[in-house]
Amino acid sequence: MVLRKPKPIDQNLRKITIQYKIQVTGVYKTYLLGTTAVPALRGIDLNIKPGEFLGLMGPSGCGKTTLLNLIGGLDYPTRGKIFLDNRDMSLLSENQLADLRRDNIGYVFQFYNLLPLLTALENVMIPLHFQGTLSRRARKRKAMELLKLVKLDERSHHTPSELSGGEQQRVAIARAFANDPSIVLLDEPTGDLDSKTGIEILNLLRDLNRKGATFVSATHDAAVSEYCTRIIHIIDGKIVKGLEVSGLKETDEMREARLSLQAEYKERCERKILEFIRTEKSQNILEIRITKIKDSINEEILKNLPMYFDDLVSELIEKEEIPGKIKSGVLYLEKTNNVLEG
Ligand SMILES: Nc1ncnc2c1ncn2[C@@H]1O[C@H](COP(=O)(O)OP(=O)(O)OP(=O)(O)O)[C@@H](O)[C@H]1O
Ligand SMILES: [Mg+2]
Repeated sequence: MVLRKPKPIDQNLRKITIQYKIQVTGVYKTYLLGTTAVPALRGIDLNIKPGEFLGLMGPSGCGKTTLLNLIGGLDYPTRGKIFLDNRDMSLLSENQLADLRRDNIGYVFQFYNLLPLLTALENVMIPLHFQGTLSRRARKRKAMELLKLVKLDERSHHTPSELSGGEQQRVAIARAFANDPSIVLLDEPTGDLDSKTGIEILNLLRDLNRKGATFVSATHDAAVSEYCTRIIHIIDGKIVKGLEVSGLKETDEMREARLSLQAEYKERCERKILEFIRTEKSQNILEIRITKIKDSINEEILKNLPMYFDDLVSELIEKEEIPGKIKSGVLYLEKTNNVLEG
């Protein structure tokens, strides 16, 4: 009979309870710039529960991107450990880490990082290609569904340069969700967008977060923090104690209240749009940029809409049977339009 050595018990596993999706324990990160050490993170302890939408706030250079990169397995801590689903990332081989990234994590980078020569659809298909489990046809179908989710299915054949900043960010979000990630890391998801487009992206992210994935988002943007379930502040590579805000997670009751509020705001928005069109029409202006209409609506209303503003305008034009059509972001009214004058 062979006497086997008992398996060693991983001390860390014993300490960790199952309730956290991500655990960051005593993490330091120091970059070497030539011979100069640049301390980016200086002792981060952070537990993140499944389904949270955690906001990382703090001044430029405080270490937000560094922390996201470590959680996402794109770089290693100098000291300390990170656990995803109780798995110690430092024990994974390069290949295991690559698998973990490919199968579990979605990344949304600050500047979209779309491949410029590929269409929106092809960009979203990339992670599916690397996963290698679906046929080309199935990949295409799935990518199309994802584009639909971010309301861009009609622009699937456009390349990034033919899309607005907000649209490119929506493609990047669709791509981040292609592998059904359980963790989504976002670096300044609204960083480069005007505040109104940013709000639309945030509404989209909030709804995606409700589908169950855990979100960690670095941001300077105070608007983002309104969408987070918890916010922590980092300064000089450390979490600032006493500045944490939590318990912001939307409950079913809150969601219901939000939806009814959104319906109300939608109505208000529709009235404003009609008013705007009527005024333009009375001045014989028959070509109206949708962005111009949008600029006339206050942010509080836009923030609470249940859908994208452009879609709302299209829907309204149809619903009110306003003679005219929308093409490339412009509403062209027909001359014989009396409907609005009553
Ligand atoms: N690859 C690198 N090599 C050397 N130093 C780096 C590197 N990446 C980041 N740093 C330094 O580490 C610190 C933290 O940088 P990081 O990018 O994490 O900050 P941040 O909070 O994301 O800032 P921002 O809000 O401007 O994006 C900074 O001092 C930065 O200069
Ligand atoms: Mg950064």
